[in-house]
Amino acid sequence: MNHMQKAAEVLAEARRIVFFTGAGISAESGIPTFRDKLTGLWAKHDPERLETADAFRENPALVWGWYLWRRRQVTVAQPNAGHHSISNLADAGWDVSVITQNIDDLHERAGVDVVIHLHGTLLKVKCFACHRPIALEPEQLSISTEGELVEPPRCSRCNGRARPGVVWFRENLPEDAWLSAVRLVSTCDVLISVGTSGVVRPAADLPEMAIRANATVIHVNLEDVSLGSDREIMLLGSAAQVLPELLRCLGVRE
Ligand code: APR
Repeated sequence: MNHMQKAAEVLAEARRIVFFTGAGISAESGIPTFRDKLTGLWAKHDPERLETADAFRENPALVWGWYLWRRRQVTVAQPNAGHHSISNLADAGWDVSVITQNIDDLHERAGVDVVIHLHGTLLKVKCFACHRPIALEPEQLSISTEGELVEPPRCSRCNGRARPGVVWFRENLPEDAWLSAVRLVSTCDVLISVGTSGVVRPAADLPEMAIRANATVIHVNLEDVSLGSDREIMLLGSAAQVLPELLRCLGVRE
């Protein structure tokens, strides 16, 4: 039996499925991943340096401009067949939960009602100083060219600078999101990890937690990211190809 058939067999017996996704699931929607070489002007910047409060303090216009550009990329992107397969599995009756490291809204736009965003979301803006949410007008979120420096708007309450509602390196994950993710992973039958390099903790600990809770972990990735457990199945390939094929094997409409 090949890996795909084995994965379909496990899913057919399972009830509670948790999808744990990373940048790779949005790659085929045209959104660059992190550890692939950054395209364009950002090739000279290291995202792990840009995604920090220090970088924002040092050069708020550079960091805010970068996030406005990423927000624009997300706005023009469409969910791909990988995103749609996840909501189709839920529509077919499985108990499906989605935990994502991504800051885009492609899971929501593919029809997933509740998405746990461990690293926040591009669509939320908050004050860098007082952390209150900030509502911005569309014109305050527009950017025309990649690499443009844009001075962030100010908070109406404390005059602090607006920052993206994402989790930066050396910042804590939202506690409620993390606790929900741990609870789901510890009680699921199958965790399907899609398009993540598994290098950023604590998110990357979730597949191992699932294995320790006797779940089966199915990895979907272009490269082999398995951890060496006999409770893992590695499906090599792109999310937009592998996930629809998995649903076909399950007899679920793609
Ligand atoms: N289908 C499946 N997997 C893919 C595809 C694809 N089409 N394209 C790329 N991949 C895989 C790559 O092989 C890699 O393993 O997706 C993974 C992307 O890894 P990263 O770029 O490291 O993205 P991610 O794992 O989500 O990063 C985690 O790091 O920079 C921080 O906060 C950021 O949430 C991000 C976190």
